[in-house]
Amino acid sequence: MNNDADIVFQSYGRSCNNIIFFEDFYDIFMSKSQNVRDMFVNTNMEAQRALLRSGILWLVMRARGMPDTKIRALGESHSRSKMNINPSFYGLWLDALIETLYRHDPEFSPEMEKIWRRTLSPSIDLIKSMY
Ligand code: HEM
Repeated sequence: MNNDADIVFQSYGRSCNNIIFFEDFYDIFMSKSQNVRDMFVNTNMEAQRALLRSGILWLVMRARGMPDTKIRALGESHSRSKMNINPSFYGLWLDALIETLYRHDPEFSPEMEKIWRRTLSPSIDLIKSMY
């Protein structure tokens, strides 16, 4: 258990059991931009936190070799014709995730940050490419 995808999987396992992780994530993500806050004005955030728990798991499982079906579904739902999530927001999204991991994974480090970023980037790039 020492390749990037396994390291990320274990890091997420140390972090995702506490629902505060997802509260903190959205606090941090929304603190980054009024445009991000505007996207969630009509959102039930309690439901959204649970949806994100699965969404991040899909990114992690994709890196561990699962098919890209769930990632493509996110690409579709976040696309221009559906939720219209501009690709420019994903950088802030990943920064917010990293900040949240620093708070919640006791084993997090600058090296882990690099591993997380390079492990999730292909799936995030796919979602952005489907905009
Ligand atoms: C790769 C990163 C992301 C993941 C894994 C993710 C995950 C999800 C999931 C699982 C949902 C539930 C609906 C669905 O399954 O499609 C959702 C909805 C949503 N996401 Fe994302 N998301 C990501 C990036 C973003 C970004 C960058 C934004 C920009 C603000 C965003 C804004 C939204 C909004 C506005 C909704 C709908 C909320 C509502 O129902 O009111 N997402 N996301």
